[in-house]
Amino acid sequence: MKLCRTIADIRAEVAGWRQAGQRVGLVTTMGALHAGHMALVAEARGASDRVVATIFVNPTQFGDPKDLETYPRTEAEDLAMLEAAGVDAVFLPDVGEIYPPGDETIVETTALARVFHGAVRPGHFRGVATVVTKLFNIVQADAAWFGEKDYQQLAVIRRMVRDLHMPVDIRSVATLREKDGLAMSSRNRRLPPQDRAAAPVLHRALEGAAALVARGGATVEGIGELVRQIVAEEPRARLTGLDIVHPDSFEPASGAVTGPLGLMISAEFGGILLIDQREIHP
Ligand code: PAF
Repeated sequence: MKLCRTIADIRAEVAGWRQAGQRVGLVTTMGALHAGHMALVAEARGASDRVVATIFVNPTQFGDPKDLETYPRTEAEDLAMLEAAGVDAVFLPDVGEIYPPGDETIVETTALARVFHGAVRPGHFRGVATVVTKLFNIVQADAAWFGEKDYQQLAVIRRMVRDLHMPVDIRSVATLREKDGLAMSSRNRRLPPQDRAAAPVLHRALEGAAALVARGGATVEGIGELVRQIVAEEPRARLTGLDIVHPDSFEPASGAVTGPLGLMISAEFGGILLIDQREIHP
């Protein structure tokens, strides 16, 4: 597995493969890899001749400097996992390589980035869209894999690729969960035991909402009430966001449920923000 720390190095590597007519798959990460990331790598491995993974803790998508500072960094373990999974090259740039002095261009989806996560973390999706554009331009993969756990991020990236005519195929992979339903996330390892035990409440709330809708006759307001009630039963959880949206436009939904909806929840557990989301269908 080749380690590339500069744009020139990764470009040279990928250019050789492309000349040989090979299909290149990409998995972008911020490191602290877990089984959820490895599911993306496995899908990319199965569908590509060559796989590139990137590890870059992107400063522009963090609002809170403390969150950026304390974000887990586990480079040696990450590289061992990627090598074992058959990744061909890893791109690990430093901040100056991605954001050179004088860098002032940003990429932003507008309406999609305003709700839910975007509303509580202003600028977050601008940071994501900008860095993902840079990584797409640097690696020039044929396809890139993203997790459905980051439902809004996936929607933002799909929209950006469509609107800016980027020649990359976006593939998604279902959320991987722990046995108790907690969505796998690099943040989970920062939860003290009592908060870790409380965190599956997010999954219970999503499942409760899905069951309510599946029974028929549900309203968006009724879903909201049920989710709030389930989360309120867990004293260690502080609900910070609840959005129920139309999946394509991310416009807030209301009234009777007549089609698929995106349900997105975020909550803090002792200061650690966790998100979970799923589509629900009548
Ligand atoms: O999902 C992530 O880990 C990040 O948001 C991404 C897509 C790697 C951009 O920094």
